[in-house]
Amino acid sequence: MKYNDIIQNMTLEEKASLMSGKDFWQTVDIERLGINSIFLADGPHGIRKQAEAADHLGLNPSIEATCFPTAATVANSWNEELGQKMGEYLGKEAVVQKVNVLLGPGVNMKRSPLAGRNFEYFSEDPYLAGKLAAGMIRGIQSHGISACVKHFAVNNQEERRMSIDTIVDERTLREIYLTAFEIAIKEGKSKTVMSAYNMLNGAYTNENLHLMRDILRDEWNFDGVVVTDWGGSNDRVAGLLAGNELEMPTTAGETNKEIVESIRNGKLKEGVLDECVDRLLDLIFSTEEVFREPAKEFDVEEHHQMAQVVAEESIVLLKNEENILPLKKGKKVAVIGDFAKEARYQGAGSSIVNPTVLVNTLESLEGSGSNCIGFEQGFDRYGKKNNKLVDRACALAKKADIVLLYIGLDEVTEAEGLDRKNMTIPENQIELVNALHEVNPNIVAVLSCGAAVELPFVNKLKGLLHAYLSGQAGALAILRILTGDVNPSGKLAETYPIQYEDTPAYHQFPGKEISVEYREGPFIGYRYYDTAKVDVLYPFGFGLSYTTFRYSELCVSKDGVTFTITNTGEVAGSEAAQLYVGCASEAIFRPKKELKGFTKVYLHPGDSATVTIPFDDKTFRYFNVVTNKWEIEEAEYIIMIGASSADIRLEESIFVEGTGAPNPYDKEKLPAYYSGKANDVSVEEFEALLGYKVPVATWDRTKPLGYNDTIAQCQYARGSFARIAYWMVEFSHWFLWKIGKKSTANLIMMSVYHMPFRGMARMTGGLMNMPMLDGVLMIVNGQFFKGLRHVLRERKKMVKSTNGKGIINTTTSGKGEVS
Ligand code: BGC
Repeated sequence: MKYNDIIQNMTLEEKASLMSGKDFWQTVDIERLGINSIFLADGPHGIRKQAEAADHLGLNPSIEATCFPTAATVANSWNEELGQKMGEYLGKEAVVQKVNVLLGPGVNMKRSPLAGRNFEYFSEDPYLAGKLAAGMIRGIQSHGISACVKHFAVNNQEERRMSIDTIVDERTLREIYLTAFEIAIKEGKSKTVMSAYNMLNGAYTNENLHLMRDILRDEWNFDGVVVTDWGGSNDRVAGLLAGNELEMPTTAGETNKEIVESIRNGKLKEGVLDECVDRLLDLIFSTEEVFREPAKEFDVEEHHQMAQVVAEESIVLLKNEENILPLKKGKKVAVIGDFAKEARYQGAGSSIVNPTVLVNTLESLEGSGSNCIGFEQGFDRYGKKNNKLVDRACALAKKADIVLLYIGLDEVTEAEGLDRKNMTIPENQIELVNALHEVNPNIVAVLSCGAAVELPFVNKLKGLLHAYLSGQAGALAILRILTGDVNPSGKLAETYPIQYEDTPAYHQFPGKEISVEYREGPFIGYRYYDTAKVDVLYPFGFGLSYTTFRYSELCVSKDGVTFTITNTGEVAGSEAAQLYVGCASEAIFRPKKELKGFTKVYLHPGDSATVTIPFDDKTFRYFNVVTNKWEIEEAEYIIMIGASSADIRLEESIFVEGTGAPNPYDKEKLPAYYSGKANDVSVEEFEALLGYKVPVATWDRTKPLGYNDTIAQCQYARGSFARIAYWMVEFSHWFLWKIGKKSTANLIMMSVYHMPFRGMARMTGGLMNMPMLDGVLMIVNGQFFKGLRHVLRERKKMVKSTNGKGIINTTTSGKGEVS
């Protein structure tokens, strides 16, 4: 152990005290040993350091910071170096704000377009997500602080995120859901990992020995710190055993006591705690070095410019009929749409950033010299039909040569803690497109949202620019692309399916009660559409440019591919070229093609570049569930170079020697997986893949409720008090939604409805402890008076044990002292 001397000098209580937060964002300090607190702060695309009241829901304000484009946007840049640059800027701001651990990036896969936090994640492809995250982590950590890759792992739905059990087969787990983490940890060298709220195959992720020990520590040699997601600890001792060093936020010392007791009664070896302390000390000591020097302020303007550069490289041009873009000089432009007035530029929840500056589309248009003849709102942001707004928009559109229409999803629809209900954009926006099309067919839409949406009106658009969530400088980046000052080079990091019913997890998303079954196996995103031959609207990897590129001279060797790209158009531009690999053998089922590399080149008109994409350890591997190892199947492999997953420009094949592992599958028993038509797999076939029977997915409504059951389950609780409480929650949600208080309604779903009972003790900073929670559960389960007495008795004991001083202060400014 690196810090053996210090650890030998610590009491058991001191060691245990380090294992959970001092308050909402900081770790515990021990003055006599020179151990300081470190500060952890969100987030993935900008610092969210709260100076006063703390929360993880995006409620209270944070210090101003640059709001960069979200991960869903940055991924479209297909530029690992750009990710690294953005990371460097994030890291710099973190240092200025005295943040030791930046809680991001998030690399969970976009399994379903409806998952509420897709805007915060990179892609449906693990290789792309992993590479961009690794770049970002290197950038952040270049300042001596720590990034924190999250949410490890398989956190792909928001509904019931704190309790849902994800049932996934081992091969899919490794190939799809863990690969991005593997790259972020091995190549990005993330010093910290945040475990996910959910369970994985029956165990909470931070207690899951297979995930945390076998894979993270033993296979990937991760020697950093695992922190729980906020309030995500279930059994503290089980977590510690799995190597979870830090529980956040504070539990007012309650779980530290559990650790001490377990060591005293022999349930836990002190050595396990010592190792966790050692790793945590390493994080503390290594990330506080940088603060020895007084931090220089960061240059707000320079950082803002960087946010603009990232946006410019990440915005995707999806449609450009009759070359309507770039906008021709002198053309009369009508700007329509609520999102032009108030940009949708970032997500919601724990990643919300308080921007240093916010570029406004209408103001920027005024100064841009374009011939803008006016602005009309066109629709109500939150989806109410308004004929007056439509009429006014149409009147303006009639007078224009081109309609610039700003549409998208609002802040309430894409939010942490909740999934979307459907893939549509609000009906009133669709009605507006239809009405505008009647009066002016020259419509260019600018779309803002962080995940795939259905676009049934796309034929009525001549141009479509997908801005995603482009950060505080996004509005200007969009205008610069529209006017041709910047040539777009973003390409989709996720597929745009035609309709929700076409998506691979359609029948299995979200898990509603106990579990969610990943029956589609590895056929996620383009892996499914491509293999099952399902038509899509825009394929993975697709994006247009104002120029054209020719691909030629592919040369495949055992080490990689080399080919030439030529800019055959009139303007300079960048091209993201993609390497896909497929296998000619059908012995082991797999997607038709998988992304195994990419590169981006900038070329002047007429110029060519010869580029090389090396093969790596992931190019030909698959995970074999019999040998429990990565193996290579001996076969002919198809090497494809594409401008997108559906636009393969060059192809060759190569024979690769295998590792000789036995084929783990019986083709007869897995017809859907072998055909790739895996969006409606029967339970029997899924069990054949899993190798065991799926657990019961529905609640046992006859059983009393326990720590890990949620408030939502009070609907069938034995205690009438709990059932009334449940209906009150339901009613408040319904009522708030009705009166237009949608964010508050969402908040109730996220922080009350789907909250497991244990959250009452884990998330209230000591207001309630576990013995008191036992009393609450008695009430819930029908023993009202007994439960109430229990709560009061335990409360008295708790107050006495804190010397009558009450509860722990959980605000940031608090020192974690009882107040
Ligand atoms: C989110 C994390 C976030 C944490 C702290 C949680 O609810 O899932 O991503 O880092 O809160 O805000």
